[in-house]
Amino acid sequence: MRIRQLRAQEVLDSRGNPTVETEVVLENGIYESAIVPSGASTGEREACELRDNDPNRYGGKGVLNAVRNVNTIIADCVCGVGIQSQADLDYKMIELDGTPNKSRLGANAILSVSLAFAKAVAKSNGQSLFESISEENLFTLPVPCMNVINGGVHADNNVDFQEFMIAPHHATDFQTAIRMGIETFHCLKKVLKSKGYVTSVGDEGGFAPNLNSNEEAIEVILEAIHCAGYKPGEDISICIDPASSEMWKDGKYHFFKSDGSYKTSEQMVALWEEWIDKYPIVLLEDGMAENDWDGWQLLTQKLGDKVELVGDDIFCTNPKILQEGIDKNVGNSILIKLNQIGTLTETLETIKLAYDNNYNCFISHRSGETEDTTIADLTVAVGAGHLKTGSGCRSERVSKFNRLMRIERQLGDRARFMGVKTFKNR
Ligand code: PGA
Ligand code: ZN
Repeated sequence: MRIRQLRAQEVLDSRGNPTVETEVVLENGIYESAIVPSGASTGEREACELRDNDPNRYGGKGVLNAVRNVNTIIADCVCGVGIQSQADLDYKMIELDGTPNKSRLGANAILSVSLAFAKAVAKSNGQSLFESISEENLFTLPVPCMNVINGGVHADNNVDFQEFMIAPHHATDFQTAIRMGIETFHCLKKVLKSKGYVTSVGDEGGFAPNLNSNEEAIEVILEAIHCAGYKPGEDISICIDPASSEMWKDGKYHFFKSDGSYKTSEQMVALWEEWIDKYPIVLLEDGMAENDWDGWQLLTQKLGDKVELVGDDIFCTNPKILQEGIDKNVGNSILIKLNQIGTLTETLETIKLAYDNNYNCFISHRSGETEDTTIADLTVAVGAGHLKTGSGCRSERVSKFNRLMRIERQLGDRARFMGVKTFKNR
């Protein structure tokens, strides 16, 4: 396989910030493009998202340097030479970059090439992207974990925790799960309205009202599940991502947005124990902060055999950090975000390491997203069984659901849906 040309340009993400789009043209004339997403509550050890920092353009958020790196340095290295495989291309770029966190060329530059190449190769072989990535041809459609209440740094409200998700797992197939989730989303709007709350949405399309407490977010969701005609816990369960690294300061967890109080790690673990006892929660992501490894170990001891404990900021989709987590008995699942590590190949290595060690993989969008639907295909290809890609509105979110419904139709009898069995320890 040879690449004839790379064409990168600056486009926009869902927050109106610039991001990188790259088109890969293969020697046989086939071309495909990919756009990279961007996070807000990022982990400290994520690969580098290269921004121009030129205050005269897009408030410093321009990505012209990353675009130039694709069109010049990366193109010079990978165009017109034999590319043996995805891994061959990705490692060529990793070597060319030469830094541990892709800070020379930018992970945004490198990932855009990596994903566009993967799509072009699939097209060239007459395959769908998920078929092309898959090694086992076991295609699992995911439980769509929909982030229906937004808080934290994703919304201008008084809710400290970032994401309250519904997981419609008691379904025979993906399309039914989507319908259950969307019906609940619309009921939630009614429930919020009836209480006099605003129904405007946050970055990921979930409602972002001011509430009387963080816990009230769960109460209104339970009401919405009932109102939609489903049973909490049996049909639809709850997943939470408090993104607690954002609350971590001077060794404590601060409830900055609500009442200004704080908790120690032990108190934070106690809060999660109480909630998991009281509510039908099947998954807790970043229950502890990325720099609170002791807290994470305590959380895992107390709750690791009851619910899925997903590491996002703490692992950053990085196989080296995940290995450290496995060795220290931290969590039982990892969040997978392609742009935290910067190539498809490394992402697949991290997923393999997780599976080999009996960790789950929870595939994820970023809060700054685009119309690119690669994560839908990735989820099916690796059989992750669940993904989070926002709420029931905003096209950059539902485009992934729509892609998954198309994949399900395409697969017909070959599509599997695991439901609640997907979640660790369920
Ligand atoms: P981010 O949020 O994309 O802003 O990092 C998503 C998450 O924390 O899971
Ligand atoms: Zn997270």
